[in-house]
Amino acid sequence: GIRKKEVNVLCLGLDNSGKTTIINHLKPTNTQAQDVVPTIGFNIEKFKTSTLSFTVFDMSGQTRYRNLWEHYYKESQAIIFVVDSGDKLRMVVAKEELDTLLNHQDIRSRRMPVLFFANKIDLRDAMSSVKVSQLLCLESIKDKPWHICASDAVKGEGLQEGVEWLQDHIK
Ligand code: GTP
Ligand code: MG
Repeated sequence: GIRKKEVNVLCLGLDNSGKTTIINHLKPTNTQAQDVVPTIGFNIEKFKTSTLSFTVFDMSGQTRYRNLWEHYYKESQAIIFVVDSGDKLRMVVAKEELDTLLNHQDIRSRRMPVLFFANKIDLRDAMSSVKVSQLLCLESIKDKPWHICASDAVKGEGLQEGVEWLQDHIK
């Protein structure tokens, strides 16, 4: 068959936002984990779309592991940043981590696509993706293509739209 272009993607965001659940859903059915557990350090996962072969670094979002993130910035071509839309208390922490990421020397100068998932939209008191994007000040990101998708990773809703956007914006 035709060899797909290989890309490295970093999956970031606070602990419990749903990163591993999202990545698990994107993997081929026969390789999906039965139950998702909090990530220790990081996991490397693979999935394919029609034109790309993705290698995803699914990082732990726990405070003690967030210092690992920056070691993978240089070798990544895109970022998936996941937010728990129901976690109003920690939205400010998510924004701090996003700002630190976007200001990092290995990220700052690069035109790499950033895909946001406003995840857990099924929760009764979840914020809309518009509200999440306002709280994260996404409009102020001028040097990178970005996109936000509302998602329910347990049901797998919204994930395909996001990945298609990513596929179209990776050069
Ligand atoms: P760390 O690995 O600790 O950084 O967390 P994570 O971001 O990988 O979160 P994970 O995928 O482990 O999900 C955390 C919990 O949220 C699990 O119990 C998931 O089932 C649940 N969860 C994930 N996505 C959704 C969603 O869209 N809706 C709801 N209701 N629960 C979700
Ligand atoms: Mg995880």
